[in-house]
Amino acid sequence: MNSEPTPSFPSRLPNVGTTIFTVMSALATQHQAVNLGQGFPDFDCDAHLVDAVDAAMRAGHNQYPPMTGVPALREAIASKIEALYGRRYGAADEITVTAGATQAILTAILCCVGPGDEVIVLEPCYDSYVPNIELAGGTVVRVPLVPGTFRPDLDRIGAAITPRTRALIINTPHNPSGTVWSEADMLRLQELLAPTNVLLISDEVYEHMVYTPLRHESAARYPGLAARAFIVSSFGKTYHVTGWKIGYVAAPPALTAEFRKVHQFNVFTVNTPMQHGLATYMHNPAPYLELPAFYAAKRDLFRQGLATTRFQVLPCEGTYFQCVGISDLAVSERDLPEAEFCQWLTREVGVAAIPLSAFYGDGFDQKIVRFCFAKKDETLRAALQRLARL
Ligand SMILES: Cc1ncc(COP(=O)(O)O)c(C=O)c1O
Repeated sequence: MNSEPTPSFPSRLPNVGTTIFTVMSALATQHQAVNLGQGFPDFDCDAHLVDAVDAAMRAGHNQYPPMTGVPALREAIASKIEALYGRRYGAADEITVTAGATQAILTAILCCVGPGDEVIVLEPCYDSYVPNIELAGGTVVRVPLVPGTFRPDLDRIGAAITPRTRALIINTPHNPSGTVWSEADMLRLQELLAPTNVLLISDEVYEHMVYTPLRHESAARYPGLAARAFIVSSFGKTYHVTGWKIGYVAAPPALTAEFRKVHQFNVFTVNTPMQHGLATYMHNPAPYLELPAFYAAKRDLFRQGLATTRFQVLPCEGTYFQCVGISDLAVSERDLPEAEFCQWLTREVGVAAIPLSAFYGDGFDQKIVRFCFAKKDETLRAALQRLARL
């Protein structure tokens, strides 16, 4: 029996509970629902990647790597960025390997944001941004993406910039909406930020999931953006290994230097054999070059199935997420708040989804939910069969 009292202290994040992704995945397991909620593949990664990591472990790459990442991996990342987006980052002073994009984003924010600083987020946004800014002591400034289309409203972003704005966080391709920023969007943003000291955190974890005819508009393509940007990506998304928690940040030397100050006292290093394995595997660009076609086929299968239901199928230009409107469903539960609808859908229909309201600070409810289609075709078919009766 432990009878000694635990001291109490004020929470650093009083408004944060368990994330909706964890809640919905637990509910999906409990009700044996098809889990199209949380964004992760239900299929295996390439066996060659596992072999490469296995070989690295057997070759003795099992101790601390350099703090900034294994040199061969940083070189491979720099070469990939140059080949795809035309900007050469220095492997030594501009690329840092991180424990996934989540750590990369937190570290980027902690290294440049402090009390009194404002950080602009574009809602709906990935759920870690806001608590990250709050942990740093910064002030969150929320700007909505255009309702209905989820495109960036550059005028509103411009209007939100003040002398206290330290950073802006963008995300393209966008979770949850699947929107992809255009060249015109990026050029407008470059123009907007040019006369300011605003830093850019560009969350590009879905960079390899952009569907024809669009291309990924990395901040690396735009010199005026790249000069002020922490560009974040994730191997978890690209190589179907979300559980490995490994990603990277590309940023100019001055930003990288500050980033690494925090990184070295945060995780210090990222697991060694995975880094060696990824460095070997990255020599072949085919896996990421073929990813759009791989996911476009799943997207099309899922969208074609949804088209025969009463769900309103919204555009999906990138990512492995498909958003749908629920207002026209034949069931009365369509009138429930999105979060309750998703719980009902999981329990009673056997398909888990994520409410879009989870991506807004005020829980804005627009009768849209998000499905993840990074699933085996048979999983998608099973989900469609269940959804057909709505
Ligand atoms: C937009 C966005 N950013 C960052 C992450 C986190 O990536 P990682 O798993 O590499 O930490 C995710 C994961 O879902 C995401 O959707």
